Parts: sequence; structure tokens; C-alpha cells
Amino acid sequence: MSQQNNVPVINPLASLDEWEEDVLKRYPDVDAIAGDKDTNEYRNYETPVRDTVREFYRLNHEYQSYDFVQEKRAHYLQFNKAKMPIWDAFEFLNQLVDDSDPDTDLDQFQHLLQTAEAIRRDGHPDWMVMVGLMHDMGKVLCLFGEPQWAVVGDTFPVGCAYSDKIVYPEFFSLNKDFSDSRYNTRLGVYAEGCGLRNVTMSWGHDEYVYQMMKDYLPEPALYMLRYHSFYAWHREGEYSYLLDDHDREMLKWVKLFNPYDLYSKNPTPPDWKQLQPYYEELVKKYLPGDLKF
Ligand SMILES: [Fe+2]
Ligand SMILES: [Fe+2]
Repeated sequence: MSQQNNVPVINPLASLDEWEEDVLKRYPDVDAIAGDKDTNEYRNYETPVRDTVREFYRLNHEYQSYDFVQEKRAHYLQFNKAKMPIWDAFEFLNQLVDDSDPDTDLDQFQHLLQTAEAIRRDGHPDWMVMVGLMHDMGKVLCLFGEPQWAVVGDTFPVGCAYSDKIVYPEFFSLNKDFSDSRYNTRLGVYAEGCGLRNVTMSWGHDEYVYQMMKDYLPEPALYMLRYHSFYAWHREGEYSYLLDDHDREMLKWVKLFNPYDLYSKNPTPPDWKQLQPYYEELVKKYLPGDLKF
């Protein structure tokens, strides 16, 4: 399995945002947050992205095995790859801009800022604004050479049977865990009601940014970060047998965050000059001077 970026077979999406556009088509039902952009517009993609998204999920479902995830966790969760101030990290993340994406001329930082601003406008606590600002920082994994299918996409538990509510469930038959009796039963390696904290999720930007932020933000914020791409849970209500009371309590926060992520994209960039003082103070309040990657 190659780790090269920009190899079409490994990275079928024209940009990382293509996955999120596909999520929008699956869950296009919120109208409150998009400001002056009608949510209907999000549905009207003339470009046939379906095939690349399908190929993306084929790779994701085939290669995100239990062992693969453990390897990635061991590699990345040491956070010994880089150290930089958050503002440098945003610049670094912005190298992911892709001109071929019709919906987002705006860079990654603008998406984070728009999400954060939509949350702030609605009067939510400032730690939730921090979630908006940080939630996709884990996409730097692409810049460390990870293929798209190990960075974005819907996440799901590994080490137990797959829900058929996960997008393109048919591709899980390609995964080596599918026929492994340790991993292919309802509970697999887990105990009934063990709680999501004891469940290993497919590897990607959610888990990475959660681990990066876990000492700095309150518990509901950490759930938003860690499970924002776990649509089979927060939209489809699957995997109830793995949840504990704490997960059930936290679900409302994960659901509260999701529309801000999906529906706050807007072609008008926020006025950074005007916003900068607020965000500098906010970041100072919650984060240390340097972030570890
Ligand atoms: Fe995300
Ligand atoms: Fe996002």
C-alpha cells in the first residue's frame, strides 16, 4: 500500500472537501446557519463527484482495518512530528487548498473561521467557538503524507461488525477484518455498553485533533471534535450497544455542532482583520503557545 500523495488511485478526491460535499447531499436538511446562501444550493452539484467519492470509500473501507488503525495511532499519537504556534499551523493547513473544488475557493482556515463565527453568532460558549476553529486541524495528516482515505471520510468503529448504515457498506467485504472472527461479530473486541472511549474508531482527522486538544477543552468540546465524522452514530443512531450513559449524554453536543460544520460554508470570506483580536484572545485563553503535531 503506497503512502504517496497525488496518486489518483490512492487519492481519488479532487479535494478533501469533496467528501464533505457528499455528506451534504446525504444530510441536506438544515436551513438555519447558512446565512445568505440557500441550503438548496449545496445540493446542486453539477460535477459528477459520485464516482470519485465511491472510489474514495472503497479504499477507506478496504484499508481501515483494526491493525491499520493501531499502527497509525502508535505513529501519530506521540505528537513528536512538529511543534508550532497555532497561527503557523493554520498556514500549514492552508497548503491543502485545491483550485479544482468548485464550491470552496476559500482555504481551510476560512472554513474553520466560518464554522467558528456561525457558532459565535448563535451565542454558544466560547469553548464551542474553539471547536469550530480547531475541528479540521487534523487534516494536516495529509501534509504528513497520509492518503485521503486515512484523513477524511465518515468514521466508524473498527474491531467489530460494521453497521449497514455506514455509507457504501458493501465495500467492507474487502476489508481483511470482514472475515476475521475476532473482529466480525456484533461486539467484536468490545464489551456491551463499554462506552465510546473504549472503542477504536477508523483513523482520521477527528481522532487526531481530539488527542491534540484533549487537555485543553471541556468534555462536550472533545466529543464534538472526536466524533464529528461518526455519522452512523450521530445521524443514524447506530452502535447503541457500544454506548454508555456518558456517550448518550454527550450525543446532544455532537449533534449541536454538526450543522455548523456542514452548513456554514459561504463564499463571502470573514473579515479577518476585524476578527483577529477576538480570536487571538480566545486562543490564548485555551491553548498553550505551541501546538504539538
Ligand atoms: Fe472534519
Ligand atoms: Fe469541517
